[in-house]
Parts: sequence; structure tokens; C-alpha cells
Amino acid sequence: MENEHHLTLTDPATGKTLQLPVLTGTDGPPVVPIGNLYRAMGCFTYDPGFLATASCRSAVTYIDGEQGILLYRGYPIEQLAEHSTFLEVAYLLMNGELPTPTQFDEFTNLISHHTIINESLKRFYDGFYHDAHPMAIMVGVVGSLSAFYHDSTDIHNPSHRVIAAHRMIAKMPTIAAACYKHSVGEPSVYPRNSLSYAGNLLHMMFSVPSEEYEVDPVAERALDLIFMLHADHEQNASTSTVRLAGSSGANPFACIASGIAALWGPAHGGANEAALNMLAEIGDVKNVPRYIARAKDRNDPFRLMGFGHRVYKNYDPRARVIRAACHEVLAKLGDTSDPLFELAMALEEAALEDDYFIERKLYPNVDFYSGLIYKALGIPTNMFTVMFAIARTVGWVAQWMEMIAEPEQRIGRPRQLYVGPARRDYPAGR
Ligand code: SDX
Repeated sequence: MENEHHLTLTDPATGKTLQLPVLTGTDGPPVVPIGNLYRAMGCFTYDPGFLATASCRSAVTYIDGEQGILLYRGYPIEQLAEHSTFLEVAYLLMNGELPTPTQFDEFTNLISHHTIINESLKRFYDGFYHDAHPMAIMVGVVGSLSAFYHDSTDIHNPSHRVIAAHRMIAKMPTIAAACYKHSVGEPSVYPRNSLSYAGNLLHMMFSVPSEEYEVDPVAERALDLIFMLHADHEQNASTSTVRLAGSSGANPFACIASGIAALWGPAHGGANEAALNMLAEIGDVKNVPRYIARAKDRNDPFRLMGFGHRVYKNYDPRARVIRAACHEVLAKLGDTSDPLFELAMALEEAALEDDYFIERKLYPNVDFYSGLIYKALGIPTNMFTVMFAIARTVGWVAQWMEMIAEPEQRIGRPRQLYVGPARRDYPAGR
């Protein structure tokens, strides 16, 4: 980071002034370090929701919300979506460079080596009802992994960090597939390491011991593409949660479990499930105007799920890729015209022509179309956010590793503006 000039802060009430350096990175807005603001000026900054706050410096992912740009370690998401694979993107996000063929083979073998979960973990699932939300099971089972892997929880040991990262990436599909199998009352299926990452997940979800199962290459490629698009996204709510949990020295499995919990919210990763449920509720193109009106009504809590974004004030580049893939996947899987896809496109068209959405720069985000592909692959709606968590585990571990290795790293401990009662005494004689 370069320091090009300073801002001067002056408080007329106290006469205090503070010179604040302005630091610039490779790209994007500069930042103003305010760590000594309280010491120098006796006040805190105040930024609920972190609308204008950079929490860290990172080299992993860059987003330009105005231009609709997303780069993983400098590579445009559109190029990676076209030419790469999820595991190659995982290597890139974790290591900073694309792997050589030898490095990629080693990485793929390492991940394959860790796909099995401890047999004792399977008993956890029996404690959940069959209709338990899979994200509730994921939070519990992933959080419990640290009880099984004491040999990789010393966060100050770089080799432990790498093993834990590999274990997390490798085991998420196995844990996720077991959630699905529990919900349908079928036996969980062991991973088959000869399959690709996405192929193995499809195999563990949809194969049954009594029949042969062949992974559909169209479904495999579609899932791998969606995983690439969801792998990382700068300092979003769940990644920031993982970083904050990690800043206390919590073990990596507990940190990822905290990320899964944060991702579940419908304002974040839960939006893909909510978006498909919304499309099903709208039901028909003739109802679109009524739901657009509801989304615009301040007195109605209804929002267009899969629309809007804190950072993107342009079309989410991931949504553009998924929208194009929708056509291809639906046609190839024989679901040539899913009425919900037609409805989604009609809803998008109506919203993008409406001043309310135009003025607020509200565009479809990654969650608007992803559910349509998941649905075409036979993945149930309540598993959509689990799919997101599988992919985002790569980003979470990459950001966690970067945070732990950061020299400036210290426990995250925000302050507040206190608006509660002033000091008062306990009433005598109570
Ligand atoms: C993800 O951060 C990330 O990078 C997240 C993510 C990732 O990869 O990690 O990209 C994944 O979480 C994508 C977002 C998925 N969530 C949804 O699709 C839920 C629906 N969207 C909204 O809840 C909302 O747009 C957010 C939560 C995504 C963003 O919220 P902000 O930035 O706090 O914006 P806001 O709520 O302040 O909205 C600004 C205005 C408001 O109107 P006014 O008060 O100005 O009149 O826009 C309106 C909002 O009411 N608005 C919407 C809307 N989203 C915002 N109105 C109707 N429908 C919507 N979807």
C-alpha cells in the first residue's frame, strides 16, 4: 500500500486536529487508517453495516461494484468460468497463482485424500429430524469437526493451517450430501475419489447402493461452474464472520461453522433458496406487476430476493454467467422451458425498467438464477444454501489463511455509540 497524501481532521469543538494518511492499493478506493483516532481525537468512527469501512487488506478477490467486475487473484471471473475448474480456482484463491500441472495433480490428490468423514460423525445426523433444515445440520456437524482433528488445529502452525484447509474443502461435499440423504431417509454414500469434485457430490447425493449411478457430464459441469462463481467474494458478511472468529484464535473448523451460520441469512446466502420460493409464490408472469409493487412498498417487508447488492450497483457478473448457463443447462437436461425461468426473466425485465430499481441501482445478483440450475439438477430448495456453503468454503479458508498470516492481525473488537441509561443506583429497599 502506498501513502500518497493526507487528510486533515479538525474538531472545532476541541481545536484538536489529526493528519490521516490516505493509502492506495492495486485498485479500488483508497483507505484512511483511523486506528489512532480515539487516542488523538477522543472519538470513534460510526458505520453500522460497514458501508464505508475496509476491515482489512487482502490480495484474494477484487470487486468493482460500479463496473460489475469480479477478479479472483486478478483473473476476471468470466475467464475463469470459461476456462478453469472449481479445484483450480480453489488452488488459485489459496495460493495466489494458477497451479502448474504437477501442483494441480498434487492438490487434487490431497483434496481427494480427505473426502471421507469420521464414522462417528454420522451418528450426529441421527439426532436430527428428517425435516431439519440442512443448514442447521451443517452448522452443527462442521463445528464438531475440531473434536476429531486435534492434529490440525494449531493455527500458528502453517502446516496445520494447510491440512485443516484441505480437510474443510474436501469434507464439505461429503457432509452436505449426508444432510440430503438424511432428509430423504436414504443411506449416506461414500465418496468415490475417481470422480471430480462436483461429480463426487452428485454421486454422494443421488446414487443409491442398489443401483449403478452415472454422473451426468452436463450436471457436473454446471455444478462446477456454479461452485467457481460462488468461491469467494471479498469481505462479505460470512467471510467477515470467519475473519472475526479467526481473529480470536478459534480453530479453523469453528471459524468455518461461524461462516456457515452467517451465510444462512436470507439477506446473504439464504437468498438463493428465498429467490426460488419467491418465484414459486409469484407463480405466473401476470402476477409480476403486483410483486414489483410490493417490493417498492416501504410498508411491505417483501423484497425481490436475488435482487440488489451492497457492492454491485451494476449487473452482478456472476448472475450474467449463471443466466446464460441456465438456458444451456435447461435445454441439455431436457427441461427446455422451465416456467420459473421464463418468470425470472420476465421479473428481471420488469424490475430493470422500473424507476425504483433503476434509481437504487438494484440488479439481479448471484442468487437470482442459481436456484433454477440447482432445481434442474434435482437439488431440493432447502439444499441451495448448502451448495453455496460448499463453494464459499474455499474463499473462507483462503481469507482465513490470509488473516492469520497478516502481521497487522489482532483480535477484532469494535466499539459502540452508547445510548442506554446513564449511571443510576439500585433502588434502596427493593
Ligand atoms: C449475497 O456481500 C456479498 O458479496 C454477498 C454475496 C456474496 O457472494 O457473498 O454477493 C452473496 O448475499 C448476494 C445478496 C443476496 N441477498 C438478496 O438477494 C436479498 C435481497 N436483497 C436485499 O436484501 C439487499 O439488496 C441486500 C441485503 C443484498 C443489500 O442491502 P443493502 O446494501 O443494505 O441495501 P439497502 O437494504 O440499504 O437497500 C437500499 C435501498 C432500500 O430502499 P430505500 O430505503 O433507499 O428506499 O434499496 C432497497 C431498499 O429497500 N432494496 C430493495 C432490494 N434491495 C434493496 N428493494 C426491493 N427489493 C430488493 N431486493
